[in-house]
Amino acid sequence: MFTRAPVFDIENLTTRYSSDGPAVLDRLNASFTPGALNFIIGPSGVGKSTLMNILLRLNTTYTGTVRIDGQNLDTFDDDTYWSGVGYVPQEPMMMNVPIRENVPLGREFTDTEIVDTLTKVGLGHKLDQYPDGLDHTIGEGGCLLSGGEKQRLSLARALIAASRILLLDDSDTETKILTTLRALADETTIIAITHRTDTITPADNMIDLTPAAIRI
Ligand SMILES: Nc1ncnc2c1ncn2[C@@H]1O[C@H](COP(=O)(O)OP(=O)(O)O)[C@@H](O)[C@H]1O
Ligand SMILES: [Mg+2]
Repeated sequence: MFTRAPVFDIENLTTRYSSDGPAVLDRLNASFTPGALNFIIGPSGVGKSTLMNILLRLNTTYTGTVRIDGQNLDTFDDDTYWSGVGYVPQEPMMMNVPIRENVPLGREFTDTEIVDTLTKVGLGHKLDQYPDGLDHTIGEGGCLLSGGEKQRLSLARALIAASRILLLDDSDTETKILTTLRALADETTIIAITHRTDTITPADNMIDLTPAAIRI
């Protein structure tokens, strides 16, 4: 749906979990742009997952606006939205089925598309090590893969559909994966929750949700 990586504009975003409860995000203004990684940071409980759930359209009880290239987030139909968005969950589901099925997860892609995507996320050499190639299985719960390789597999699932938006939940992202992600940042708007501020560089865009009152 998106012909290029879009810009997210967030204006005055406020949400709460009960009408008399505290505001979780309080008049947040932010923008997420392609060309650099966009990180959402802040201590536990500050609203990082809440913001991600709003971007994923799982939480729609907010005031203020979220626009993607000028179009209101709540005006996209689901099919259109999801055809443009790839999501990398915190704990990706790992199934002991061949890689050929593990990447597409029920969608139709050619072997070439699968191999190209695995190469893009830095798993090409791993695939080369398997005599049975795409027929290789990854073990119960992905036990034959390292933590970083599982993340890359999850990234491949999100990227294979050529999504222009990539949302990553807070996983213990390896520095090396960030290099892979940075190489994709021109063609994809990448928004990641992280608790590891040491991996953020000055070139990245950082949205710190820490309330001013508790900043040191
Ligand atoms: N489903 C929910 N119902 C009520 N309160 C919630 C719910 N989800 C999160 N919260 C509260 O909202 C605040 C922000 O939570 P969350 O977005 O998960 O923070 P973070 O991801 O930054 O740790 C916390 O105070 C949390 O307890
Ligand atoms: Mg969270």
